[in-house]
Amino acid sequence: MKTIIEPFKIKVVEPIRMTTRSERDAILREAAYNVFLIHARDVLIDLLTDSGTGAMSSEQWSGVMRADESYAGAESFYRFKDRLTQITGFKHVLPTHQGRASERLLFELIGGRDKVVPNNAHFDTTRANVEHSGARAVDLPIAEAGDPRNRHPFKGNMDIDALERLIREVGPESVPAVFVTVTNNSGGGQPVSLENLRAVRRVCDRYRRPMFLDACRFAENAWFIKMRELGQRDRDVRAIVREMFDLADGATISAKKDGIVNIGGVLLLRDEELFHRASNLLILTEGYVTYGGLAGRDLEAMAQGFEEVLHEDYLAYRIRSTAYLGEKLLAAGIQIVEPPGGHAIYVDARAFCPHIPAEQYPGQAVVCGLYRVGGIRAVEIGSVMFGGPGRPPPKMELVRLAIPRRVYTQSHIDYVVEACLELHSERRSLRGLRIIEEPPVLRHFTARFEEL
Ligand code: F0G
Repeated sequence: MKTIIEPFKIKVVEPIRMTTRSERDAILREAAYNVFLIHARDVLIDLLTDSGTGAMSSEQWSGVMRADESYAGAESFYRFKDRLTQITGFKHVLPTHQGRASERLLFELIGGRDKVVPNNAHFDTTRANVEHSGARAVDLPIAEAGDPRNRHPFKGNMDIDALERLIREVGPESVPAVFVTVTNNSGGGQPVSLENLRAVRRVCDRYRRPMFLDACRFAENAWFIKMRELGQRDRDVRAIVREMFDLADGATISAKKDGIVNIGGVLLLRDEELFHRASNLLILTEGYVTYGGLAGRDLEAMAQGFEEVLHEDYLAYRIRSTAYLGEKLLAAGIQIVEPPGGHAIYVDARAFCPHIPAEQYPGQAVVCGLYRVGGIRAVEIGSVMFGGPGRPPPKMELVRLAIPRRVYTQSHIDYVVEACLELHSERRSLRGLRIIEEPPVLRHFTARFEEL
């Protein structure tokens, strides 16, 4: 059999409200050309993010009912903690309400002025949390990552020489941790190889620096390692996951991705003293250490989700269904970041509308076009998200089509392909945009635009 089917049946459905193109024109204008400001009921296929948008399984929903809601020492906490320890090997496990809460706790403790945090590529909130602490966030992707057409199998890898140069230049004591984001979200959902993770570890050992994973999509990364890295094909994906975590001194995780839950996060630490400091800060701002700002039912859903994400049938379906969308777009002449990523397909907006200069946000123009044509909500990852006063222009202008886990079927994706093709055929009519209102940080969430 060639077709990889969804390894699940659908038990509960949620209706999609159909809209017309002229209705969507008005909705978009009303939302000031920022799709974050559109009501979800006005979206047909929501590819804004794969974060917190996955469908939970019957076992997860059973866990929600079974959960222990005790303030301290709830059974649900221990099920969550034991599952995370079993998968990652970490003994110190703190629950948080989502990834950025783990980041905020960690960088409040290890960040600060004069500090520099290297990463293969910071995602938006991670960069913002590093900078909020006063530290500098530096991206060190390999050169291949900047070329959408380059099909390097591990385009998420960190540039090891650049890492070593940076540590020497600023001095090891200025680097509180070296981060590796698996998979690399801002650069195309591209994986990091075990070989690269081991090389980062060696540099960290040489300069006695801790290594941290931003492990939101650890299972997808491990699947790519199994499929692409020499000598890994016959290994259990759990063994690969364990090796990835064994290399690290800590990890921040948003469980809204590979935890397949609607809310939740994790902070993993090896250092005893840092764990105690993080626990105290957690109690101060999030909640007691056995719930971390979540309900017992959220902990149950996470315990089960982190287990299900490691099922190889699921991972084969997950990575294949994302590639399916990417391959259809490529075949139709739409340039994407190649090879297809794990959780999303990234359209190269510069190639899509070469007539719109970076200052007029070509990615945002494509995002608006996709909403108009098909009611599809995507997100710009380019000059809107990472540009702005005092920031260097990003290497690529991308539009991310993120695939929620276990939510859409193949016909939904075929519809997305049709909408992309229709927009592509009328791409010369796309217009650039101007920002008329923006907040000082993370401007993409709330900025207002005007069409030129
Ligand atoms: N790190 C990475 C690599 C992420 O992709 C995200 C979130 C976070 C950290 C923060 O986690 O949202 O739970 O606070 N990414 C989402 C996205 C929002 O759309 O890619 P969070």
